[in-house]
Amino acid sequence: MGSYMTPEQAKKLSLAEQNEWFRRATSRRNLLRGGIAVGAVAAGSALLGGTADAATTSASTLLHAPTGPSGGSTVVPFGQHIAYGADPTSQMAIAWQVRNPVSQPYLRISDSPAGWGEKIQAEVRTLATPKGDISPIDSVPLVSPATIEQYYLHVTVDHLRPGQTYYYTVGHDGYEGHPVAGSFTTAPSGRQPFRFTAFGDEGVSYDAVATSNLVKGLNPAFHLHAGDISYAEDTGHGLITDGFDPRVWDGWFTEAANAAGSIPWQVATGNHEMEAWYTPDGYGGHHARWDIPGGTSAPVYYSFTYGNVGVVSLDANDVSYEIPANLGYSGGKQAAWLNTTLAALRADKDIDFIVAYFHHCAYSTCTSHASEGGARQYFAPLFDKYGVDLVINGHNHIYERNNPLIGGKQTVAAPSGSTVTPATQGTTYIVAGGAGDSLYSFNVADSYEGNVDNVASISSYVNVSGAQQAESVSYSQVRYTGYGLVVVDSAPAGHGGTSTLLVRGLNEDGVEIDRVTLARKVK
Ligand SMILES: [Fe+2]
Ligand SMILES: [Fe+2]
Repeated sequence: MGSYMTPEQAKKLSLAEQNEWFRRATSRRNLLRGGIAVGAVAAGSALLGGTADAATTSASTLLHAPTGPSGGSTVVPFGQHIAYGADPTSQMAIAWQVRNPVSQPYLRISDSPAGWGEKIQAEVRTLATPKGDISPIDSVPLVSPATIEQYYLHVTVDHLRPGQTYYYTVGHDGYEGHPVAGSFTTAPSGRQPFRFTAFGDEGVSYDAVATSNLVKGLNPAFHLHAGDISYAEDTGHGLITDGFDPRVWDGWFTEAANAAGSIPWQVATGNHEMEAWYTPDGYGGHHARWDIPGGTSAPVYYSFTYGNVGVVSLDANDVSYEIPANLGYSGGKQAAWLNTTLAALRADKDIDFIVAYFHHCAYSTCTSHASEGGARQYFAPLFDKYGVDLVINGHNHIYERNNPLIGGKQTVAAPSGSTVTPATQGTTYIVAGGAGDSLYSFNVADSYEGNVDNVASISSYVNVSGAQQAESVSYSQVRYTGYGLVVVDSAPAGHGGTSTLLVRGLNEDGVEIDRVTLARKVK
């Protein structure tokens, strides 16, 4: 292969192999051109010095200090977003973006908006993307400068008090004394009622604004994003030849900040998060933008607990037969970690419910992507083994809820309004991929609250190695072709009682389309 690659050539390579090719090709071209922008050289040099081991490569190899002049007063921070540290009762990671290099970026935090604490210096994570090496995703030609530089600023605060509301402001040299950028509340200690929300497949659109602001209005303790976040990687095949413009992220972070600046935005990786340009595993950009418990070298899969609920965020790209660019990249580490993590959560006497979320659907009848055999093969048996109560997926841009399943078989019909007992009836799988990107469809009628249209079976398929395997599905209970999200209210009970999760589907106007209660006896 020369300096350029066709999609057909790229498909034969893993993401790590494509990244290796890209690094060599970029290095060759830069030598021929006699050098490119300082940022790109710094980032490229660091990359070339890095290891080719996808599992251990750190995004920190991409980072370098800002080299330009101070942006001062004309550079306005934007795109603030927060995420839990390893302990949601005492840690929060706060991030934002600036358009140009700045001096002394900082965060100040307080439990009162009236008086700020000391300045905490921000960590700068810079992404440098040579424009000549990406394909624009619209008809607008790429113009100067030659390299797109994006500056993500991060501060993780520690030793916070449980159940306490904090306010924060951000700034840098020349931009100081500005108002509250956001506020957040740490997880309480103990078993308190709380709410969380979830969706996937967002993008930048007016529907995405609607669902994101609906999250804000619902005021959840945290939000689960099931992947396909901005669609800056527009094609979603995990190929170096895919359409990609990193500036789409600038628009997405601006759109999301109203909610994500105050609600922990806990992201999972979709196929559109595989960006072959930065690191061998495709997640160099992801680690520059987001905070994951364990830092920039941590796996993109993780877990946290909030009150009586354990939450597990998985990377389904590792098990996707449909889009195999990263298939098997963790070398089995993720499945082993999942087994250990679920065992510990189920053994924890303070945890009643386990919620797992990831991108590709284990069970869906949506025509576009249907079901992912890898999720059934590697994840679902562990969900059965440890009694995972609720699974939330995206990838299919619709809403669908299945009747509870054990071993892929329906145990009971659960129409809207039902109560399900996961301990005996199995796992409820929901697809909530209608956050804002263009909608997909079903090959049977929608069926949801106020518009019930049951069908006996649906012709669908599951993606297996190199093929789509036809199947007839009878467990699909609720189908809605429209934008929306999932909202879950946790009501923990005392010893000997029954805790519940009230799980509802809402459309983008906040109208209820689905409702099911999950009930579990307290240990
Ligand atoms: Fe998507
Ligand atoms: Fe997707």
